[in-house]
Amino acid sequence: MAGRLPSAWLDELYARTDIVSVVSSYLPLKKDGRRYWGLCPFHNEKTASFSVNSELNLYYCFGCKAGGNVVQFVMEMERVSYLEAVKMLADKIHMPLPELKEDPDYERRRSQNERLYAANREAARFYHDKLWTPEGKVVLDYLHGRGLDDGIIRRFGLGASTDKWDDLTSYLEGKGYTREELGLAGLTVIKGDNAFDMFRSRAIFPIIDQQNRVLGFGGRAMNDAKPKYLNTSDTPVFNKRKGVYAINLIRKIRDLKRVILVEGYMDVVAISQAGVVGAVATLGTALTNEQARLLKRYAPEVHLAYDGDEAGQHAIERALGIFEAEGIPAKVLYFPDGLDPDEFIRQRGMDAFQKIRPMTSVSYRMQRLRLQHDLETQEGRTEYAKACAELLKGVKDPVDLENYLETLSVQTGFSRDVLIAQVGVSMPAASSQMQHNLPERRENLSTKRPHQPEGYRTEQTLLALLATGKLPQGMVKASDFTDERLRSLAEGLLSGRTASELITEAENDDQRQAAGETFSLLTDNERDNAAQIAQDCLRNLQIQRLQQDMNALTDLMRTTEDAEKRAQALKEVAAISKELARLKQQGR
Ligand code: UTP
Ligand code: MN
Repeated sequence: MAGRLPSAWLDELYARTDIVSVVSSYLPLKKDGRRYWGLCPFHNEKTASFSVNSELNLYYCFGCKAGGNVVQFVMEMERVSYLEAVKMLADKIHMPLPELKEDPDYERRRSQNERLYAANREAARFYHDKLWTPEGKVVLDYLHGRGLDDGIIRRFGLGASTDKWDDLTSYLEGKGYTREELGLAGLTVIKGDNAFDMFRSRAIFPIIDQQNRVLGFGGRAMNDAKPKYLNTSDTPVFNKRKGVYAINLIRKIRDLKRVILVEGYMDVVAISQAGVVGAVATLGTALTNEQARLLKRYAPEVHLAYDGDEAGQHAIERALGIFEAEGIPAKVLYFPDGLDPDEFIRQRGMDAFQKIRPMTSVSYRMQRLRLQHDLETQEGRTEYAKACAELLKGVKDPVDLENYLETLSVQTGFSRDVLIAQVGVSMPAASSQMQHNLPERRENLSTKRPHQPEGYRTEQTLLALLATGKLPQGMVKASDFTDERLRSLAEGLLSGRTASELITEAENDDQRQAAGETFSLLTDNERDNAAQIAQDCLRNLQIQRLQQDMNALTDLMRTTEDAEKRAQALKEVAAISKELARLKQQGR
């Protein structure tokens, strides 16, 4: 579907979609007052800190801070793109997609694609069933010979293509698929009047996407036939540069810590059998940016487990560049002696595999550079130190930098100071980012985080009240908020955006978390007495600010030598304390 969805259509979708019923179809929710609570599907927990607010159409987890509207929820749960999630929701309520009516070709393309998916699915089943027949025995023996057991063969739906010319083609023609369709799906090769199977005498690895559709196949030759692996050529439903092998299996793993990206289909299957979770591979081509972005949806980090040979190492450097460009944290698992993950785990076992320490990209590159220089010579050490210093310019974390410098100093004999000068940076002071992301649970929600300004919680409550739409016009202004994130959210609300829109459009995680937490914290009592509570919040904020002014003035009076200034300050203090008394009186 091309282009953006019309906003009127989206508005209707949101209006007709009930977030509580959508979320309930994934996890049990319990009503508590007007909010719903459940165990968060995005992190492990024993007490419910996942809240759903149907009035504002949003969810927020006070534990892991996941938050968003109903579309984001579906995106996260189903690991699908925005457009796919919207389609799924529209489908649920039988709302036709807007542009489709205007694009007569779409229906045709769509039904054709559905036919191709169906043909592929039939083919996958056909190949898999063949495995357990006498004709498939050669392939089954081959797979067993490579150490795979029947359980893993079933889990990955591996199959066998026989040596017959048109085994699959005639089977699928018998099922009503046209030759043209089979050709389009890449299952059949058509030459004039002849049609023969694309895959013959091969072990078959079906490639299945995150929506469980069979896109195509990889076929491993039984002997030395070339090519060793034959892949489905690109078809209307299969694009080697977009898909990822075994993505259908990792989408089911919750809380996956890292995806392990390997080079080969066989590596994925073999290490999965050994108990490694989260293994995937590209489809016979080098990693693309699109694939990197797809992986990002499934885990916070990627471990590159390419072959230990020179080609694999070269591919790692390239892949690290792609992950960096996409802002995806990536580490490297290095296999010695040129082994690939399948060989490594078979020869040395799962324990040895788990002992491999993931290397940061910097450590990995330093190791590569080290191999390219002769550290026995002064010249080699110098060149190596310079090359590493270049690399270290990119290291932002001071602790990491210190560690690398220490290693480099030991390796080259240059002092830390000389190396720092070469890196050309002054060591920054402790990063202020470290204070963020403190774990915070629902129970102690009211504890103030260290980086939050005085009155943050009051500002949050005020903002949440504003979001209910129940406050009199003009009562709350953007300038009532001192916290920048809250102020920009207030500006959004005041300009007519909804809480759900603001949380969807948040610029970064910090913004989204602030929005999610804020919009989810009102108690029923606060909501029922919105105007009254807002009045209290405004007064409390004013009191806090006056008190701050007062503190500053009394400090001044204590420290200044200037009698005139002191007298002036005293006058202001008197005025403020009168105002404070009045405000506090009002509050009773
Ligand atoms: P490798 O040659 O490293 O294969 O190719 P492997 O996984 O170790 O295979 P085995 O152990 O010999 O069976 C890695 C990946 O490169 C692609 C395939 O996707 C393969 O899984 N490839 C390789 C091809 O597409 N065509 C080829 O001819 C070879
Ligand atoms: Mn191999």
